[in-house]
Amino acid sequence: MKRMVPLRRRSGLPQYNTDEERDGLRAAGHFNAELLDFLRPHVQSGITTDQLDAKAEEFTRDHGHIPACLGYNGYPKTICSSLNDVVCHGIPNDRELRNGDIVNIDCTTIVDGWFGDQSETFLIGEVSADAKRITQGAFDALWIGIHAVHPFCAVIEIGKAITKFAREQGFGVVENYQGHGIGRKFHQEPGIPHVPFRRSRSDILVPGVSFTIEPMLNLGAAGTKPPLDDGWTVLTEDGSLSAQFEHHILMTEEGPEILTLTKNGPKEGHRF
Ligand code: MF3
Ligand code: CO
Ligand code: CO
Repeated sequence: MKRMVPLRRRSGLPQYNTDEERDGLRAAGHFNAELLDFLRPHVQSGITTDQLDAKAEEFTRDHGHIPACLGYNGYPKTICSSLNDVVCHGIPNDRELRNGDIVNIDCTTIVDGWFGDQSETFLIGEVSADAKRITQGAFDALWIGIHAVHPFCAVIEIGKAITKFAREQGFGVVENYQGHGIGRKFHQEPGIPHVPFRRSRSDILVPGVSFTIEPMLNLGAAGTKPPLDDGWTVLTEDGSLSAQFEHHILMTEEGPEILTLTKNGPKEGHRF
Protein backbone atom coordinates (compact mmCIF):
# COMPACT_ATOMS: atom_id res chain seq x y z
CA MET A 1 0.00 0.00 0.00
CA LYS A 2 1.22 3.48 -0.76
CA ARG A 3 2.30 5.22 2.37
CA MET A 4 0.28 8.37 3.00
CA VAL A 5 2.24 11.45 3.96
CA PRO A 6 0.41 12.90 6.95
CA LEU A 7 -1.45 16.05 5.93
CA ARG A 8 0.26 18.15 8.58
CA ARG A 9 3.63 17.60 6.91
CA ARG A 10 2.47 19.20 3.67
CA SER A 11 2.67 22.70 5.02
CA GLY A 12 6.14 24.11 4.46
CA LEU A 13 5.62 26.46 7.40
CA PRO A 14 7.50 26.22 10.70
CA GLN A 15 5.54 23.92 13.04
CA TYR A 16 5.80 23.16 16.73
CA ASN A 17 4.38 19.77 17.51
CA THR A 18 6.09 18.51 20.62
CA ASP A 19 4.72 19.27 24.09
CA GLU A 20 8.02 20.87 24.94
CA GLU A 21 7.84 23.28 22.02
CA ARG A 22 4.19 24.14 22.57
CA ASP A 23 4.71 24.66 26.29
CA GLY A 24 7.65 26.92 25.47
CA LEU A 25 5.42 29.05 23.27
CA ARG A 26 2.65 29.05 25.87
CA ALA A 27 5.02 30.24 28.57
CA ALA A 28 6.25 33.08 26.35
CA GLY A 29 2.73 34.19 25.47
CA HIS A 30 1.66 33.97 29.10
CA PHE A 31 4.56 36.02 30.39
CA ASN A 32 4.03 38.62 27.68
CA ALA A 33 0.37 38.93 28.71
CA GLU A 34 1.46 39.40 32.34
CA LEU A 35 3.75 42.19 31.19
CA LEU A 36 0.84 43.94 29.49
CA ASP A 37 -1.29 43.44 32.62
CA PHE A 38 1.54 44.99 34.65
CA LEU A 39 1.75 48.02 32.35
CA ARG A 40 -2.01 48.58 32.00
CA PRO A 41 -2.66 50.60 35.19
CA HIS A 42 0.26 52.88 34.30
CA VAL A 43 -1.08 53.75 30.86
CA GLN A 44 -2.69 56.99 32.00
CA SER A 45 -2.67 60.67 31.28
CA GLY A 46 0.61 62.27 32.48
CA ILE A 47 2.99 59.33 31.97
CA THR A 48 5.52 59.48 29.15
CA THR A 49 5.97 56.58 26.79
CA ASP A 50 9.65 56.52 27.85
CA GLN A 51 8.51 55.87 31.42
CA LEU A 52 6.28 53.03 30.23
CA ASP A 53 9.20 51.65 28.25
CA ALA A 54 11.47 51.69 31.31
CA LYS A 55 8.82 49.86 33.36
CA ALA A 56 8.44 47.23 30.64
CA GLU A 57 12.17 46.61 30.43
CA GLU A 58 12.54 46.39 34.20
CA PHE A 59 9.61 43.98 34.61
CA THR A 60 10.93 41.78 31.82
CA ARG A 61 14.47 41.61 33.18
CA ASP A 62 13.33 41.21 36.80
CA HIS A 63 11.58 38.02 35.67
CA GLY A 64 14.71 36.81 33.92
CA HIS A 65 13.43 37.36 30.38
CA ILE A 66 14.60 39.37 27.39
CA PRO A 67 12.99 42.38 25.69
CA ALA A 68 12.69 41.23 22.06
CA CYS A 69 12.42 44.60 20.33
CA LEU A 70 15.45 46.20 22.00
CA GLY A 71 18.22 46.00 19.42
CA TYR A 72 16.06 44.16 16.89
CA ASN A 73 17.24 45.52 13.52
CA GLY A 74 18.55 48.47 15.53
CA TYR A 75 15.23 49.27 17.23
CA PRO A 76 16.16 51.36 20.30
CA LYS A 77 13.46 50.52 22.91
CA THR A 78 11.62 47.68 24.64
CA ILE A 79 8.06 48.49 23.54
CA CYS A 80 6.47 50.17 20.56
CA SER A 81 4.08 52.99 21.51
CA SER A 82 1.98 54.17 18.58
CA LEU A 83 -0.01 57.31 19.28
CA ASN A 84 -3.10 58.57 17.39
CA ASP A 85 -2.11 58.73 13.69
CA VAL A 86 0.87 56.41 14.23
CA VAL A 87 0.04 53.08 12.61
CA CYS A 88 2.83 51.05 14.20
CA HIS A 89 6.45 51.01 15.42
CA GLY A 90 6.21 54.30 17.32
CA ILE A 91 9.32 54.78 19.46
CA PRO A 92 8.77 55.73 23.11
CA ASN A 93 9.85 59.29 23.93
CA ASP A 94 9.29 62.08 26.47
CA ARG A 95 5.83 62.99 25.23
CA GLU A 96 3.25 62.64 28.02
CA LEU A 97 0.03 60.81 27.31
CA ARG A 98 -2.93 63.15 27.60
CA ASN A 99 -6.70 63.11 27.64
CA GLY A 100 -8.10 62.21 24.25
CA ASP A 101 -5.10 60.21 23.02
CA ILE A 102 -5.27 56.66 21.82
CA VAL A 103 -2.03 54.70 22.12
CA ASN A 104 -1.10 51.19 21.07
CA ILE A 105 1.41 49.46 23.32
CA ASP A 106 3.09 46.53 21.57
CA CYS A 107 5.14 44.18 23.76
CA THR A 108 7.34 41.31 22.68
CA THR A 109 9.47 39.20 25.00
CA ILE A 110 11.78 36.21 24.73
CA VAL A 111 11.19 33.52 27.35
CA ASP A 112 13.68 30.64 27.27
CA GLY A 113 14.29 31.27 23.57
CA TRP A 114 10.59 31.51 22.64
CA PHE A 115 8.98 34.75 21.45
CA GLY A 116 5.62 36.06 22.69
CA ASP A 117 4.04 39.08 20.96
CA GLN A 118 0.85 41.08 21.52
CA SER A 119 -0.51 44.59 21.57
CA GLU A 120 -3.44 46.61 22.82
CA THR A 121 -4.75 50.10 22.10
CA PHE A 122 -5.57 52.20 25.16
CA LEU A 123 -7.98 55.14 25.41
CA ILE A 124 -6.56 57.95 27.57
CA GLY A 125 -9.33 59.67 29.54
CA GLU A 126 -12.26 60.89 27.50
CA VAL A 127 -11.62 60.38 23.80
CA SER A 128 -13.55 61.48 20.71
CA ALA A 129 -16.30 59.33 19.23
CA ASP A 130 -14.01 58.73 16.24
CA ALA A 131 -11.16 57.54 18.46
CA LYS A 132 -13.52 55.14 20.20
CA ARG A 133 -14.91 53.90 16.90
CA ILE A 134 -11.55 53.07 15.37
CA THR A 135 -10.33 51.39 18.56
CA GLN A 136 -13.49 49.29 18.73
CA GLY A 137 -13.09 48.48 15.03
CA ALA A 138 -9.52 47.23 15.44
CA PHE A 139 -10.50 45.17 18.51
CA ASP A 140 -13.46 43.58 16.75
CA ALA A 141 -11.33 42.96 13.64
CA LEU A 142 -8.82 40.97 15.69
CA TRP A 143 -11.58 38.71 17.04
CA ILE A 144 -13.14 38.33 13.62
CA GLY A 145 -9.73 37.24 12.36
CA ILE A 146 -9.37 34.73 15.18
CA HIS A 147 -12.81 33.25 14.47
CA ALA A 148 -11.96 32.97 10.78
CA VAL A 149 -9.27 30.34 11.38
CA HIS A 150 -9.47 26.60 12.00
CA PRO A 151 -7.02 23.73 11.54
CA PHE A 152 -5.91 23.36 7.89
CA CYS A 153 -7.50 26.62 6.74
CA ALA A 154 -5.64 29.03 4.47
CA VAL A 155 -4.21 32.27 5.79
CA ILE A 156 -6.25 34.22 3.23
CA GLU A 157 -9.38 33.54 5.34
CA ILE A 158 -8.09 36.05 7.91
CA GLY A 159 -7.76 38.86 5.39
CA LYS A 160 -11.09 38.04 3.79
CA ALA A 161 -12.99 38.21 7.08
CA ILE A 162 -11.28 41.32 8.41
CA THR A 163 -11.58 43.25 5.17
CA LYS A 164 -15.28 42.41 4.77
CA PHE A 165 -15.94 43.73 8.29
CA ALA A 166 -13.79 46.85 7.88
CA ARG A 167 -15.39 47.71 4.56
CA GLU A 168 -18.87 47.54 6.09
CA GLN A 169 -17.71 49.94 8.81
CA GLY A 170 -15.88 52.26 6.42
CA PHE A 171 -12.39 51.70 7.89
CA GLY A 172 -9.16 51.30 5.96
CA VAL A 173 -7.21 48.08 6.56
CA VAL A 174 -3.45 48.65 6.47
CA GLU A 175 -1.79 46.51 3.81
CA ASN A 176 1.83 47.58 4.15
CA TYR A 177 2.29 45.90 7.55
CA GLN A 178 1.01 42.50 8.56
CA GLY A 179 1.05 39.72 11.13
CA HIS A 180 3.64 36.97 11.02
CA GLY A 181 4.74 33.53 12.02
CA ILE A 182 6.60 33.57 15.35
CA GLY A 183 8.43 31.00 17.44
CA ARG A 184 12.13 30.78 18.08
CA LYS A 185 12.34 33.78 15.75
CA PHE A 186 10.45 37.08 16.04
CA HIS A 187 9.27 37.17 12.43
CA GLN A 188 9.03 34.12 10.19
CA GLU A 189 6.71 32.49 7.65
CA PRO A 190 3.82 32.78 7.14
CA GLY A 191 3.11 36.46 6.59
CA ILE A 192 -0.40 37.19 7.87
CA PRO A 193 -1.90 39.96 5.74
CA HIS A 194 -5.13 41.49 7.03
CA VAL A 195 -6.38 41.90 3.47
CA PRO A 196 -7.02 38.92 1.15
CA PHE A 197 -3.75 38.69 -0.77
CA ARG A 198 -3.88 35.77 -3.21
CA ARG A 199 -0.50 34.43 -2.16
CA SER A 200 -1.96 33.56 1.25
CA ARG A 201 -4.20 30.92 -0.33
CA SER A 202 -1.32 28.46 -0.22
CA ASP A 203 -0.24 29.15 3.37
CA ILE A 204 -2.06 26.48 5.36
CA LEU A 205 -2.49 26.80 9.13
CA VAL A 206 -1.80 23.18 10.01
CA PRO A 207 -1.66 22.27 13.71
CA GLY A 208 1.61 23.47 15.14
CA VAL A 209 1.85 26.77 13.25
CA SER A 210 2.42 29.74 15.57
CA PHE A 211 1.49 33.19 14.29
CA THR A 212 0.06 36.60 15.10
CA ILE A 213 -3.07 38.39 13.96
CA GLU A 214 -2.61 42.13 14.42
CA PRO A 215 -4.92 44.24 12.26
CA MET A 216 -4.15 47.95 11.94
CA LEU A 217 -7.30 49.85 11.00
CA ASN A 218 -7.39 53.49 9.91
CA LEU A 219 -10.32 55.84 10.32
CA GLY A 220 -9.55 57.08 6.82
CA ALA A 221 -7.67 55.50 3.94
CA ALA A 222 -5.48 52.42 4.33
CA GLY A 223 -2.29 54.08 3.08
CA THR A 224 0.79 54.66 5.22
CA LYS A 225 3.67 57.11 4.91
CA PRO A 226 7.22 55.79 4.63
CA PRO A 227 8.84 55.54 8.08
CA LEU A 228 9.98 58.84 9.63
CA ASP A 229 13.66 59.76 9.79
CA ASP A 230 13.93 57.74 13.00
CA GLY A 231 13.69 54.73 10.69
CA TRP A 232 10.62 53.27 12.39
CA THR A 233 7.58 55.44 13.06
CA VAL A 234 4.83 54.76 10.51
CA LEU A 235 2.03 57.34 10.13
CA THR A 236 -1.23 57.16 8.23
CA GLU A 237 -0.93 58.76 4.83
CA ASP A 238 -3.97 60.98 5.36
CA GLY A 239 -3.34 61.90 9.01
CA SER A 240 -6.35 59.90 10.21
CA LEU A 241 -6.38 57.93 13.47
CA SER A 242 -5.16 54.34 13.50
CA ALA A 243 -5.69 51.56 16.04
CA GLN A 244 -4.39 48.01 16.44
CA PHE A 245 -4.75 44.91 18.59
CA GLU A 246 -2.57 41.81 18.41
CA HIS A 247 -2.71 38.28 19.76
CA HIS A 248 -0.21 35.45 19.42
CA ILE A 249 -1.95 32.25 18.37
CA LEU A 250 -0.98 28.60 18.16
CA MET A 251 -3.02 26.49 15.78
CA THR A 252 -3.74 23.18 17.48
CA GLU A 253 -5.62 20.04 16.46
CA GLU A 254 -8.61 21.49 18.37
CA GLY A 255 -8.49 24.98 16.86
CA PRO A 256 -6.70 28.26 17.49
CA GLU A 257 -5.23 28.64 20.98
CA ILE A 258 -4.71 32.25 22.00
CA LEU A 259 -1.43 32.37 23.90
CA THR A 260 -1.57 36.01 25.00
CA LEU A 261 -4.90 36.34 26.82
CA THR A 262 -4.55 38.90 29.60
CA LYS A 263 -6.21 38.69 33.02
CA ASN A 264 -7.32 42.31 33.13
CA GLY A 265 -7.41 43.43 29.52
CA PRO A 266 -10.47 43.76 27.30
CA LYS A 267 -12.16 40.40 26.68
CA GLU A 268 -13.89 39.24 23.55
CA GLY A 269 -17.07 41.28 23.07
CA HIS A 270 -15.69 44.25 25.06
CA ARG A 271 -17.26 47.64 24.31
CA PHE A 272 -14.96 50.64 24.60
N1 MF3 B 1 5.89 43.82 17.85
C1 MF3 B 1 5.87 44.19 16.47
C2 MF3 B 1 5.07 43.12 15.75
O1 MF3 B 1 3.97 42.91 16.13
C3 MF3 B 1 7.21 44.31 15.87
C4 MF3 B 1 8.02 45.42 16.42
S1 MF3 B 1 9.56 45.33 15.71
C5 MF3 B 1 10.38 46.58 16.46
O2 MF3 B 1 5.50 42.44 14.89
F1 MF3 B 1 11.61 46.43 16.16
F2 MF3 B 1 9.86 47.72 16.06
F3 MF3 B 1 10.21 46.49 17.75
CO1 CO C 1 3.63 40.91 15.81
CO1 CO D 1 3.73 43.09 18.23
